[in-house]
Amino acid sequence: MGAPTQERYDEAGPSCLSSFTCGLFTWPSSSAKVGSHSAPGANADVLRKIEINANEPTILSPLEDERLFSPARKFQFNDLKSATRNFRPDSIIGEGGFGHVFKGWIEEHGTAPAKPGTGLVVAVKILNPNGLQGHKEWLAEVDYLGELHHSNLVNLIGYCSEGEHRLLVYEFMEKGSLEQHLFRRATPLPWTTRMKIALGAAKGLAFLHGRDPPIIFRDFKTSNILLDDDYNAKLSDFGLARDGPQGDRSHVSTRVMGTYGYAAPEYVMTGHLTSRSDIYSFGVVLLEILTGRRSMDKSRPSGQHNLVEWARPFLGDKKKVIWLVDPNLNGIYSAKGIQKVSSLAARCLARDPRGRPSMQQVLDVLALLQSPTDIAGPAISSYAPSKDARSQVKNPCIVQGQQHIVGNGNV
Ligand SMILES: Nc1ncnc2c1ncn2[C@@H]1O[C@H](COP(=O)(O)OP(=O)(O)OP(=O)(O)O)[C@@H](O)[C@H]1O
Ligand SMILES: [Mg+2]
Repeated sequence: MGAPTQERYDEAGPSCLSSFTCGLFTWPSSSAKVGSHSAPGANADVLRKIEINANEPTILSPLEDERLFSPARKFQFNDLKSATRNFRPDSIIGEGGFGHVFKGWIEEHGTAPAKPGTGLVVAVKILNPNGLQGHKEWLAEVDYLGELHHSNLVNLIGYCSEGEHRLLVYEFMEKGSLEQHLFRRATPLPWTTRMKIALGAAKGLAFLHGRDPPIIFRDFKTSNILLDDDYNAKLSDFGLARDGPQGDRSHVSTRVMGTYGYAAPEYVMTGHLTSRSDIYSFGVVLLEILTGRRSMDKSRPSGQHNLVEWARPFLGDKKKVIWLVDPNLNGIYSAKGIQKVSSLAARCLARDPRGRPSMQQVLDVLALLQSPTDIAGPAISSYAPSKDARSQVKNPCIVQGQQHIVGNGNV
């Protein structure tokens, strides 16, 4: 805990965009809709978000209720209350912009609560009515995840919509999120596990992009990559997912939504959404996996807050790329692997979206990195740069003089 917060864009529209001043995504300054706040009661770890649809109804209209003809199970609020032992604080397993996430137990095939340790273990997300996400995201989650099934997407077991209560019930993911493992756990993830997770997450995204119409995830980030007991990755949180362009259309126009540090710059600038926006976010996650650094980290020295801007100058340089590697790996990684991952990340992060690979191409590269034969022991750390060498390039962002983005969305 105590990790830096992330801030998120939501449906705040063009007025919000004007408060973004550059590709480093300075904090929004003036718009009242911009949330430098977190949900009441939330701790400093919670993603800070921008309010969406503050005036939206919180109760399902009859039409929406019909739309929820979802194969997912429909739960009673009281059953979920019992399943989580009255939403006991010690059942809390996480908290995001939507609200708290609790561990609970339900009947294997039904909706009734079960005794802890019996039946099916689940994660129950409860919408905080005063929080920063709302009914619309809840509905998108049920719509998409209720229908989509894939081994790299988290399974939505069911939902509850009763009065003002909005809950979601998921399969419980034993190992939590990639974000926790990369940034909060004392034991670092080994290189091969990182590659396994990257491949699993890529498969999830490739599945979404391969649909007709493609589904754009729009919120690809480490906290939305959940891990089962064997570190199989599954994507969660479809609240921002959106059908991609169909036919001849090159993009869909949307209001800018997503999370600072992950959203593709051209999307932030124009609101034009394509699958390539997700690819950019994938590149950011690859960089986080490689470096062990957060996409946005204001606790770092100036010039290093934005991971992409900081890392970009190293990515294309075979010799320098080693300087990016997460020191927590203690030099135990595949040297070929880091070359390939960094050049893949560089392609995913291409400023021109047309220069980014497809998810299928990403998969092809990652598939080759699953059983490296050149994992060296700590001895390889002798190749790592000295502290002096690192400090010589401690501010590459400034040296490089990156182009920055002025948010002037037109949607
Ligand atoms: N199905 C699950 N199984 C186990 N843990 C989960 C599950 N779903 C969520 N969590 C835990 O709860 C945390 C909060 O999840 P949540 O999706 O609400 O927020 P977030 O992803 O951190 O941020 P955001 O609200 O921007 O998506 C996750 O990071 C994860 O640790
Ligand atoms: Mg999430």
